[in-house]
Amino acid sequence: MEDEKVQWSSHISFILATVGSAVGLGNIWRFPYIMGKNGGAVFLITYLLLIAFICVIPLCCELFIGKKYKTDTIQSIKNINPKFKWVGWLCILTVILIPCFYFVVGGWILNYIWLFLSHHIPANFTQYFGAYSSQIYMPVILTLLFLIMTAIFPYRGVNDGIEKANNIMMPLFAIILIILAIFALTLPGAKEGLLFMFKPNFSHFDKTMILTALGQALFTLSIGMGTILTYGSYMKEKTNIAKSAYQLIFFDTLIALLAGIMIFPIVFSFGVEPTAGASLVFISLPEMFSKLPFSSFFGLVFFVLLFFASITSGISMMETGILSFIKNFNISRKKATIILTTIIGLISIPSTLSFGVLKDFTLFNKTFFDLLDYSTSNILLPFNTLLICLLSGWCIKSLWKELLGENIFGYIFNILLKFVVPVILICVLVTGI
Ligand code: PHE
Repeated sequence: MEDEKVQWSSHISFILATVGSAVGLGNIWRFPYIMGKNGGAVFLITYLLLIAFICVIPLCCELFIGKKYKTDTIQSIKNINPKFKWVGWLCILTVILIPCFYFVVGGWILNYIWLFLSHHIPANFTQYFGAYSSQIYMPVILTLLFLIMTAIFPYRGVNDGIEKANNIMMPLFAIILIILAIFALTLPGAKEGLLFMFKPNFSHFDKTMILTALGQALFTLSIGMGTILTYGSYMKEKTNIAKSAYQLIFFDTLIALLAGIMIFPIVFSFGVEPTAGASLVFISLPEMFSKLPFSSFFGLVFFVLLFFASITSGISMMETGILSFIKNFNISRKKATIILTTIIGLISIPSTLSFGVLKDFTLFNKTFFDLLDYSTSNILLPFNTLLICLLSGWCIKSLWKELLGENIFGYIFNILLKFVVPVILICVLVTGI
């Protein structure tokens, strides 16, 4: 089979690809927003503890399983225990549903890039965004365009497509982010923005906040849907899993923080509410950019940044589904890409229209778009992660030994994996539902 011996060509390529997957809208669109909404620094501290001690466990498990079995999510889980093959399918279902709302945002990003590129900057972004996202044709066309742009890279293969895309886009992404963050720090609201971000406010510390932090940490690390497993399956034999996991966590968190450092000073300089939600990125920020000197330039650069972040994540979602289609239906990479793109394209249409004609079609008070977001982020991700942890801990007996050796770290890892993390995930699930 064509994908049998595929490997990343270097450790850097592997890290860039996994960071590319992890760093996405979650870091820029979601992290500053929910951090603002959940009490700033208290949220941040909770988040850091959760990601460093809890989420690292399933992260290592996915990398381990990928490296050990060198195949897609479904076959890997079947290799662990054939009775649980359905867990693999559940991961693939999740990774098919996530792009169906994620790529809608990708389409909005494309539209904004066009706005700033063509200097068609609206006078009122609140009105503009509401009117634009509720249209029928343009948002759907751009969602599908984003989908196709994302699909091109896995279509071309792991080394020729995915690796090249990440090797070019991720360094560019980092440069743009650093420049924007430095610029933001020169604004008058910088101090207030940083205070908001780093000053603890314990009144927000509750169950919901912990649940949100954990959900965000899982989402941002792309855990619980086989994506890390898939990228891990292309890992070289000598790659150290625990070290790679912490490298990934380090870069992902650093970038989420830089995104906050870029966004909050701007927000406070213009006196808007830091809790503005998704509209922060598509209404408040562009409005502020349009008031800065070289407005088109800053707007354009910001949305190009978002584009790189979202497309490299999108590529990893697509690749997870594609590799599973290749291995389970015995089809070529190209055919698998076309089938997956078609499925995601079809489900994305009603999701895109949730902001317009389908706005009133709600279930549990949620539009189709919100339902996809909620069911994947709050239910499927923690559920899949729980199952992956249980399978790793109880069915691969030697996992902790192979990963860390028979030492104190190994023992702690084993206890966290078998008992602590599953209990926490169950609490998260129960609270979430
Ligand atoms: N981690 C990505 C983000 O933070 C989202 C993602 C989810 C990517 C699932 C791949 C798979 O935006």
